[in-house]
Amino acid sequence: MELRLLFLLFCSSLLVLPTHLTLSSAAKDTDTHLLQPTDQRRDGCISVLLTQQGIDFAKDVLIGKAISSLIPIQLDDIEKSVKIPLVGTVRIRLSDITINEATVGSSRAQAGRPGIQLVASGITAQMSLKWKYSYKVWFVEISDHGVASVQAEGMRVGVIAGVKEDGGTLKLSVLACGCQVEDVSIDVHGGASWLYQAVVDAFQNTIKSKVEKAVAKKITDGIAKLDTKLQSIPKLINIDRTAALNVTFVSDPIFQSSSVDLQIDGLFTSLGNALAPAYHRVGRGASLYYDDESRMIGISLHEDVFNSAATTYFNAGYMDWKINKLPDQSLLNTAAWKDVYPELYKLYPDDDMTLDVKSASPPVITITEDDGNAAIALDVTVKVLNATQVLPVACVSVAINASCTPQILGNNLTGVLDMRSFKLSPKWSNIGNLQTPLLEEMVSTVLGSIFIPYVNSHLARGFPLPVIHGFAIADGEIKCMDSSLIIRSDIALT
Ligand SMILES: *[C@@H]1O[C@H](CO)[C@@H](O)[C@H](O)[C@H]1NC(C)=O
Ligand SMILES: *[C@@H]1O[C@H](CO)[C@@H](O)[C@H](O)[C@H]1NC(C)=O
Ligand SMILES: *[C@@H]1O[C@H](CO)[C@@H](O)[C@H](O)[C@H]1NC(C)=O
Ligand SMILES: *[C@@H]1O[C@H](CO)[C@@H](O)[C@H](O)[C@H]1NC(C)=O
Repeated sequence: MELRLLFLLFCSSLLVLPTHLTLSSAAKDTDTHLLQPTDQRRDGCISVLLTQQGIDFAKDVLIGKAISSLIPIQLDDIEKSVKIPLVGTVRIRLSDITINEATVGSSRAQAGRPGIQLVASGITAQMSLKWKYSYKVWFVEISDHGVASVQAEGMRVGVIAGVKEDGGTLKLSVLACGCQVEDVSIDVHGGASWLYQAVVDAFQNTIKSKVEKAVAKKITDGIAKLDTKLQSIPKLINIDRTAALNVTFVSDPIFQSSSVDLQIDGLFTSLGNALAPAYHRVGRGASLYYDDESRMIGISLHEDVFNSAATTYFNAGYMDWKINKLPDQSLLNTAAWKDVYPELYKLYPDDDMTLDVKSASPPVITITEDDGNAAIALDVTVKVLNATQVLPVACVSVAINASCTPQILGNNLTGVLDMRSFKLSPKWSNIGNLQTPLLEEMVSTVLGSIFIPYVNSHLARGFPLPVIHGFAIADGEIKCMDSSLIIRSDIALT
C-alpha cells in the first residue's frame, strides 16, 4: 500500500523538459518560506514544499531521464543544389539526420511566478547523417554516398512550464520553450575533395536551425505527454480495504523564487461505505512553516488528517474489541468479584466474563508545540457467560488521555501511544453500585496490557509517507507545531 502522491514526479518532471527563453526576473518573489494563506487559495490538510535543494536534486535526476527519453531525435531530410567550381551543379541530399547523444554542461532550475523555469547550457549533441550527391557530366550521371558525423556545440535550452490546478489535478502547459545552437561542426567521411566545404557552406546553418526547431518541438510534445500522465494520477489512494487518502490538489501550486508549495486535500475517506458520514475539517489547513532550507522537502500534515483517519476507521467498526483473555485470567470470572459484587456472584456463580470495549466516538487528536494528544472515549460493557447466554451486566465510560509521539521509521510515519491518565464514570449496572476501585484496577489492566499495546502494534506499522515511486524520504525529522506535524527531510532514490 504505497502512497504514490507523485509530488516529486510532478515537480521534477517540470524540470525534465528544457527549452529556450529569456528568464524574466519579474517573476522573482520574496525570498521567504513563510507562506501566509491568502484569500485566493484553499489550504489543503497536507502541504508539500520543495526547497531549492529539492528542486535542484529533482532537476539533476530528471535531466538524465529526459535526455534518455527524448533521444534519438530524428530531423527531416535536407536537399539542395549547390554550384561547385569546375564540377557544376550538384544535388546534395542529407538524410537520416539523427541526434544520438547529448551531454549537459550545466543547468539551473528556478521556481517563479509563472511556473518553473529551467535552463540547460553547454549542451553538446552528437549527430550522424547520410550524404548523397549526384550531378551530370554530359549525359553521364555521377553519384556517391557516405556518412558524416556532426556535433552541435554550445547548445542552450530553456523552458518555462506553467502549472495550474484544474479539477483536482495539475495541468501543465508550456509558456515558453526554445533552443539555441552556437556552432555545428561537420566531419564528412569519404566523398570528393570538394564535398566537405560544400556541405559546410550550404548546410551548416540549415542543420543548426533544424536542430533548434526539432529540440523545441520534442520538448513541447514531451510536456504534453507529461500533462496526460499528470491527469491520470488517481485522486484517491487506497490505504487498505477501508480507507483511502484524498490526494486531490485544492489550489494552484505556489511558486516562489526558491520553492514550490503544493496544497492537497489530504483527508481520509471511507471506501465502500457510502453512508459513512465524512469527516468535516475543523482547522484552517496545514501549517506552512518550514524553517530549514538545508533540507530538500517539507511535508506538513494538519491534525485533521489524523482525525479524518480516526473517523474513517471508527465508522468502519475498527474500534470495537471483545476481550476474553487477560494476563490475570481469574479477573474474568465472577468468583473474583464475589466479595465486591455479592449480587453478581449470586446470580452467576463461577461464570466466565468478557469485556466489550467500544469507542463511543472517534478519538480526537490534537497536535501542540510539544507532542500529539489523543482523547479516547470508550464504553466498557461487562458481560457474563452462563451456559447458554451472554448477559450484559454493567457498563462504564472510560475517558483516556494519551500522548502520541510521532516517529519516522524509514519512509513510514509511525507513532507511540502512551497513556497519561484515564477517568471512569459508571453508565448503568444490574449488579448494584459499581465499586470504582475494583473496576479501575480491571480497566487499568485491560488498557495497559491489551488496549494500548494493541493500538501501538497498529501504529508501529504506520503509514508510508507520501512520496512517489522511485523516491523516498531520507533521514527525515519530525516536529510538532501548533496543530500540524512537520516532516523535514532529504529525498533519496530507491
Ligand atoms: C476530495 O477532496 C476534494 C477537494 O477537497 C473534494 O472536492 C472531494 O469531494 C473529495 N473526495 C472525496 C471522495 O472525499
Ligand atoms: C443463564 O442466564 C439466564 C438469564 O439470567 C437464565 O435464564 C438461564 O437459565 C441461565 N442459564 C443457565 C444454564 O444458568
Ligand atoms: C491530557 O493530559 C495533559 C497532560 O497531563 C493535559 O495537559 C491535557 O489538558 C489533558 N487533556 C485532556 C483532554 O484532558
Ligand atoms: C513501512 O511500511 C511498509 C508498509 O506498511 C512496510 O512494508 C515497511 O516494512 C515499513 N518500513 C519500515 C522501515 O518500517
